Amino acid sequence: MIPDTHEDPLALSVSSLSYSYGVGSETTLTFPEVQIARGQSCAVVGPSGCGKTTLLHLVAGLLTPQAGSIHVAGQRMDTRSQRDRDRLRGRLIGIVLQQLRLVASLSALDNLLLAQRLSGQPVDRAAATEQLVGLGLGQHLHRRPGALSQGEAQRVAIARALMGQPALLLADEPSSSLDDANAERVLRLLTEQAAEHGAALLVVTHDARIRGRLDQEIELTGAAA
Ligand SMILES: Nc1ncnc2c1ncn2[C@@H]1O[C@H](COP(=O)(O)OP(=O)(O)O)[C@@H](O)[C@H]1O
Ligand SMILES: [Mg+2]
Repeated sequence: MIPDTHEDPLALSVSSLSYSYGVGSETTLTFPEVQIARGQSCAVVGPSGCGKTTLLHLVAGLLTPQAGSIHVAGQRMDTRSQRDRDRLRGRLIGIVLQQLRLVASLSALDNLLLAQRLSGQPVDRAAATEQLVGLGLGQHLHRRPGALSQGEAQRVAIARALMGQPALLLADEPSSSLDDANAERVLRLLTEQAAEHGAALLVVTHDARIRGRLDQEIELTGAAA
């Protein structure tokens, strides 16, 4: 049984977290405390290799920490079974990974419908269409990812991440490979969309252009234990 989640004022709380990839990896990555209130945004910044993507995958429940705790919307995530975590992720978290992982053989719209199905949401074609139109993709509903520009494909991935009205939106290096104008555009889009959907936003990035743009900034040093 997964209890109701919409009481805790914190969308994300990460405490005393550490992770080691093991097998051939000597170092243990340790992470600072992270607390993001509902509707707030946070950037985790630091150089390449300091553990940003690892942190994002831990928060998403794609990796299991060796120590520490992760709560999303009041739900402890890290101690649950994989199955419970998958269900909670589908309900609480939207993810925009660095590799967008859109299904190449499906249109933009069908990518959103597939995501709904996989995360256990009712398939709602109208809502998916509306979301894509809202992100300026109304002309591209039936295009496959390969026929979209990188920026457009990223917007499809953002639309997909927001489909389930997540409490927490995660984005890994959303602006890093974009020119200044498009980096600006995607940051604005993420913050606006998160606010509109009442989601907290966690961006992990080495992109210095994000500095000062979100409510909170946390520096990752890659401290190894
Ligand atoms: N699958 C993996 N197996 C072993 N080591 C990994 C793996 N993924 C990342 N690492 C190591 O963990 C550290 C943190 O990586 P990562 O979280 O990707 O950093 P960042 O996103 O900040 O660049 C790096 O030293 C990296 O080499
Ligand atoms: Mg990374």
